[in-house]
Amino acid sequence: MRNTDIVILKALLSANDAFVSGNQLANRLGISRVGVWARLEKLRDHDFDFEAVRHRGYRLLQEPAYLNEDLIRAYLELDEFPADIVALTDIDSTNSEAERLLAAGRPAPFAVLSSRQTAGRGRFGRKWHSPQEGNIYASFAFRPKLPPARLQRITLWFGLCICRFLNEELHIPVKIKWPNDLLLHGKKVAGMLTEARVDSDFTRDLVFGVGLNVNADTTAWPAEVASVATALSAATPARLPINKIAARLVRTVIRAYDEYVAGSIDTEFQENWPKYDLLQGLTVNASSGQQKISGIVKGIDNEGRLLVQNTQGILQSLNSGEVSLGSAAMGKLASANGATNGTR
Ligand code: BTN
Repeated sequence: MRNTDIVILKALLSANDAFVSGNQLANRLGISRVGVWARLEKLRDHDFDFEAVRHRGYRLLQEPAYLNEDLIRAYLELDEFPADIVALTDIDSTNSEAERLLAAGRPAPFAVLSSRQTAGRGRFGRKWHSPQEGNIYASFAFRPKLPPARLQRITLWFGLCICRFLNEELHIPVKIKWPNDLLLHGKKVAGMLTEARVDSDFTRDLVFGVGLNVNADTTAWPAEVASVATALSAATPARLPINKIAARLVRTVIRAYDEYVAGSIDTEFQENWPKYDLLQGLTVNASSGQQKISGIVKGIDNEGRLLVQNTQGILQSLNSGEVSLGSAAMGKLASANGATNGTR
């Protein structure tokens, strides 16, 4: 029944709000019109809604508010990008599930998505709070067979490509904060976590995880969370189509991976980083283990290291770590937000 549902959903989506005749659907599927009606009734149980009008057919009125595997597949097939995906309601962590599937021999690439995580992981062993509130928790599994040094910039590249997708396709002004965060109006809208297993000199497998706040109701968040985090919906008046965004995210990340391993990203990276870089020109405090640097951010180098000019004018670089903004930088961001906020 799964393929039947995907065919029905594809037909309704490509009709762009117009009616699709029940007869046409029945002929396409080789089932009766009553059979089509029965499938649509089943889909209603999964939070879809349809309008049915005699002699005109069916029209899609509402898509589910949470992730739905068939609908994501329908969007991917319409984009002619049929990827291997698993979409779940609940899981401990999509990164952990992707690791288990890799260990069980599932061919890569594939994506694991979930509407909720009970043990979501953040960087530095932190917890990633992952309630079911209209967000996407997603992990992408690859088997790169490349030396780890070749993968040094991969998280930055994924982040940059996701940023470009959100800006160009959804027109939401998201920026990247080196090395792992995506921000909207100066607040965190997504976090990224890349985990890899290395065999002697080669990366056996790599899991890239991203938690993207999409339709969460940020007004219901505690003040201390709402002051530092947000959701994409803060930039739009209407609820965002989460399953379409999930499908585009899958396409963006898998394409980004292919471009990265083909070694063809240098020009695009250099052109796009300054466009979406949140930190450029800001005064920051950056740290990695014992190393601590304060100064003005001057972009990144060819290996993806953060370049910071200290008060003596010396340029220092950081391989990985955390960056916090000084009060002057926070002020700059706040005044920039004043200009972009108010769209809600
Ligand atoms: C961070 O900012 O600390 C990174 C957060 C990464 C969270 C995502 S949600 C999907 C994937 N599964 C996890 O357990 N973590 C990542």
